[in-house]
Amino acid sequence: PAQYEEWAAEVRRLADERGAVVLAHNYQVPEIQDVAHHTGDSLYLSRVAAQTDAREIVFCGVHFMAETAKILSPDKTVLLPDHDAGCSLADSITAEQLREWKAEHPGAVVVSYVNTTAAVKAETDVCCTSSNAADVVRSIPEDREILFCPDQFLGAHVKRVTGRENIRIWAGECHVHAGISPSDVRSQIAAHPDAEILVHPECGCTTSVLDLVSNGDLPAERTRVLSTGGMAEAAAATRAGQVLVATEVGILHQLRALNSGTQFIPMNDRAACRYMKMITPEKLLRTLQTGQGAIEVPGDVAARARRAVEAMIAIGE
Ligand code: 13P
Ligand code: SF4
Repeated sequence: PAQYEEWAAEVRRLADERGAVVLAHNYQVPEIQDVAHHTGDSLYLSRVAAQTDAREIVFCGVHFMAETAKILSPDKTVLLPDHDAGCSLADSITAEQLREWKAEHPGAVVVSYVNTTAAVKAETDVCCTSSNAADVVRSIPEDREILFCPDQFLGAHVKRVTGRENIRIWAGECHVHAGISPSDVRSQIAAHPDAEILVHPECGCTTSVLDLVSNGDLPAERTRVLSTGGMAEAAAATRAGQVLVATEVGILHQLRALNSGTQFIPMNDRAACRYMKMITPEKLLRTLQTGQGAIEVPGDVAARARRAVEAMIAIGE
């Protein structure tokens, strides 16, 4: 802890000196979540990035998130402490693949999850995150076909909750969330029968959890599908003794800090994202010392991508 305090004080001092705001996603290591000026889900962080007065944004998260910040604040320097912090979901569709898919379905509206490269966003009409995907889909006129990419589990969930029929879903996935399976759900529910359940819609188990609710095997009032930010809100408010959490395990730090009276249990304790964990306390400090690691997005790509991200941010504001 003394060492932590020293590191944290130096991070804050350097951030002040640089005029930088430090943002951290909910899946970052605990030290980084705690030292950041703002910690939250991807929608919240993109809103902060769009509105901040800081000169510089140090993004503790993965590459597409830092890129999104740069797209929204092109005049600011956005630093990512490790440019190899990628995302298997963002890698599951390229701009070229999306262009081909659009050519097969002329006139369709493209909805892309923010977990995509800037080049994919540039081919997109409106982005979405896990917290607003259903609202984004509902905002599109009923008669327009939708191409939804890249996450198949989020896509299936959105289709289910909106009842939308004319929506085509790309078959991408996040390797971490896809690995949280229906069999994990069965065994954890059997072990913790009274627990509340929080599920991130990228999970491979989302459909089976909702099937259990529809069949009356799980009480609807104890089961929710939420973004990581939604999970934090639910955790702060709950009075449950136990909560099963189906998402990347980094969120548990946040949930436990918000509510010490409840036990938060991972649905699958191996669900860790190695890309998120590439941002280490040492790398954050080095980034603040050197100012290296700036994200660049070519101007024409950024301008087209910005329209799609801003269209998303405008929905629900
Ligand atoms: P949210 O923070 O929007 O819930 O996203 C989760 C995620 O997978 C980011 O990698
Ligand atoms: Fe990408 Fe999955 Fe890691 Fe999120 S948890 S950054 S979606 S690989």
